[in-house]
Amino acid sequence: MQTLVNVEVKMERIKEIIEIELTGEFKSCTLEIIEDYYEDMLTCIGSDAPTDHHGYVGGWITHTLGVLENAVMICNMYPFLHRQLMVMGAILHDLGKLKDYTLVGNTFEHNSSRYLLGHCAEGVSILSKYLEKYNIEKHLKDGILHIVGCHMGSQPSASIMQPVMPEAIFLNFADHMDALAEPVREAKEKTQIGDWTDYVVGTAERKLYIV
Ligand SMILES: [Fe+2]
Ligand SMILES: [Fe+2]
Repeated sequence: MQTLVNVEVKMERIKEIIEIELTGEFKSCTLEIIEDYYEDMLTCIGSDAPTDHHGYVGGWITHTLGVLENAVMICNMYPFLHRQLMVMGAILHDLGKLKDYTLVGNTFEHNSSRYLLGHCAEGVSILSKYLEKYNIEKHLKDGILHIVGCHMGSQPSASIMQPVMPEAIFLNFADHMDALAEPVREAKEKTQIGDWTDYVVGTAERKLYIV
């Protein structure tokens, strides 16, 4: 399948960051999930086009790398955050989206998981089975599940609960920033200085003034 982005390069960058940032069971568990979902991760759309961000083949991995780079930057700025949970959480935060879409021919279609459970709950369901195999302390397992389950920030947007861990709140910002960046860049490219963009859908949900 043809993709709009070089997905292998993006996956290599994710693995480079894993080598630098993750250790022990966090690293092993993350790499095992990547190995099992490798093809889905490379091809899946990031969200629903045209009303949401990264809605193209390869969008999932593009967005995941963006959130991961944001998470590393945030950890450098705020070292009181749990770095391993932030990095693992960034890589796996949209794991459940790999179950939301089914490839039909050359396009992705929604399946019922998206409407029955949503990608936060799906992500928790997948991840909890992997975590059972790893010797990670219970409070850290609970923490990574909370980040994945609550990264959307509020219940109407598929979050299971309101985030109550600092890492889940900061990851929610990292996620929003990356979801916002691509539609905003595209809107800026199409707009003259001193003018308003068209309505920017998704995270922004407004017209923007360009300087
Ligand atoms: Fe998400
Ligand atoms: Fe996301």
